[in-house]
Amino acid sequence: MRRLRLLTAGESHGPGLVGVLEGLPAGLRVSTRRVDLDLRRRQHGYGSGRRMQIERDRVRWIAGIRYGRTLGSPVGFAVDNRDWENWTDRMSVEPIPADRRPKAITRARPGHVDLAGALKYGVDDVRDVLERASARSTTPRVVAGSLARQLLGATGVRIWSFVDQLGPVRAFAEADDPLACVAPDWPDRDLRDPSPLRCPDPEAEARMLEEVDRAKEAGDSIGGSFVVVAERVPVGLGSSAEWDTRLDGILAGAVMAIPGVKGVEIGLGFGVVDRQGSAVHDVVDAADAGWRRSSNRAGGIEGGISNGEPIVVRAAQKPVSTLRSPLPSVDLATGASGRAHIERSDVTVLPRAAIVGEAMVALMLADELLYSFGGDSMADLRAAVARRRRRTERRPG
Ligand SMILES: Cc1cc2nc3c(=O)[nH]c(=O)nc-3n(C[C@H](O)[C@H](O)[C@H](O)COP(=O)(O)O)c2cc1C
Repeated sequence: MRRLRLLTAGESHGPGLVGVLEGLPAGLRVSTRRVDLDLRRRQHGYGSGRRMQIERDRVRWIAGIRYGRTLGSPVGFAVDNRDWENWTDRMSVEPIPADRRPKAITRARPGHVDLAGALKYGVDDVRDVLERASARSTTPRVVAGSLARQLLGATGVRIWSFVDQLGPVRAFAEADDPLACVAPDWPDRDLRDPSPLRCPDPEAEARMLEEVDRAKEAGDSIGGSFVVVAERVPVGLGSSAEWDTRLDGILAGAVMAIPGVKGVEIGLGFGVVDRQGSAVHDVVDAADAGWRRSSNRAGGIEGGISNGEPIVVRAAQKPVSTLRSPLPSVDLATGASGRAHIERSDVTVLPRAAIVGEAMVALMLADELLYSFGGDSMADLRAAVARRRRRTERRPG
């Protein structure tokens, strides 16, 4: 990131998770309720395991906020792990003699960090590496992303997401522009009353729910894809001046860094492969007084720069690696074959991964907004963004 810095720490079953977000301007009104809502959204969803029922995450501010507004200093925060009290022996910070320790985990799960991480750090208890690799580490990202969302919201940008595919079931299968299919009053657009899988196509969602139940019954897991949308992004975030300043590359890297995400598309994405140019590029609508396009196959980014259309990022999420009917594995300690270990786990994480996707997109866009428009205070930032909107959102003539 170019203007913001985010550092996070915390293990899945340790005492808690912490983060420091540096670079927010002074004067951002912070809604703690909004942050807690995003944390709850990260925990909600059909196919979630028991832990999500045990824990209700809440943010605890430690630094950088006074009277509900940012000070311009780093914002420090913590989210306690309510389950910690059940893990004090297995995750003890204090040394425990080897003969009194809980049993080590030695049978790695295929598809998870277990074997690669154990080999990298030279450990023989896989818990040493899986605790940090767990998606619990996305919790501080969601807190920081919620702050970024609030900053973006103060300049008119709105971010939302939905699940568009689960296993073989695709919502709006024939659609060229998936956004056109999402009703303007679909509740999740305004983050109200989420449906169980956060899919805006009720008929497809019903079939998706059946797929989740089938995977659960088989002791298996199931993946799919989610879409993150950012609306009213000012023209001009990112640049084509250098490879690492392109907005598409920045967003793709951040979304790809979500655990379990294996592919990222902007706009049509891989859909460009089998089309001719005339069916890929978006024509500026002659009838419109603004710079509106008649389609948004580019997903809101051309030449690495936001073009004013909604930014549309789609991510492929692999099925979780922890299976209740575990895959074959090899014991790290003895070399004997056996089954992978079982950790408390979800059948699908799609509706929750989408919320992490929103957080990553919000963080990247807030960072680029601050890079382009700067400002020590929110008043400076808002004024600069308004100036840009005045210049770019009206067509001459
Ligand atoms: C919100 C969320 C929750 C997840 N929950 C689980 C889980 O309960 N069990 C699991 O095995 N993987 C879970 N994952 C996925 C793993 O973190 C991921 O499979 C693992 O990091 C290996 O994937 P990688 O190779 O992409 O890192 C979750 C991912 C996300 C985004």
